[in-house]
Amino acid sequence: MAKTKALFPGSFDPFTNGHLDVVETASRIFDAVHISIGRNAAKKSLLSIDERLECISEAVAHLENVSVGAFSGLVADYVGKEDASIIVRGLRQATDFEYEQRMAIANDLLGKNLPTVFLTPHLENLLTSSTIVRDIYRHGGDFGHFVPGSVRSFLEKKRSKQK
Ligand code: PNS
Repeated sequence: MAKTKALFPGSFDPFTNGHLDVVETASRIFDAVHISIGRNAAKKSLLSIDERLECISEAVAHLENVSVGAFSGLVADYVGKEDASIIVRGLRQATDFEYEQRMAIANDLLGKNLPTVFLTPHLENLLTSSTIVRDIYRHGGDFGHFVPGSVRSFLEKKRSKQK
């Protein structure tokens, strides 16, 4: 039977418990999941792509069928390079929907019939976002509730070096 590989693109700046929640579910549904870190031109970044690669690789090390990489350019082009056939994105609340639907439709057109599947995280991760984590980080607060342990240690070390 043909194997289905899903691509999970995002800026993951930083990778949160919400992202991990979606990846864990996707890894149970699909044969393989590839997390692909991209740049969101609309957001001011906190971590470099290499830092994000390091954080995410550690956070998903327990998931055997999950790999991590980075891309530039269009997601629809990268899907083919990774031999994936479907895009996965997390969907938290109605406020996410318009943005996600626009992106799904653009990717479907660009990828010539490339579907996006939306996964909703568990209740405890429903209000988590990288934007909140970046804000708490920049104001010196405790973001531990929102990120995997490995990401927490990485960010705390980075912040202490900046002081
Ligand atoms: O986690 P984010 O910030 O919502 O991720 C956004 C990302 C990186 C997936 C999106 O900006 C993206 O796909 N960028 C690559 C350019 C692209 O393919 N654009 C067409 C779809 S809108």
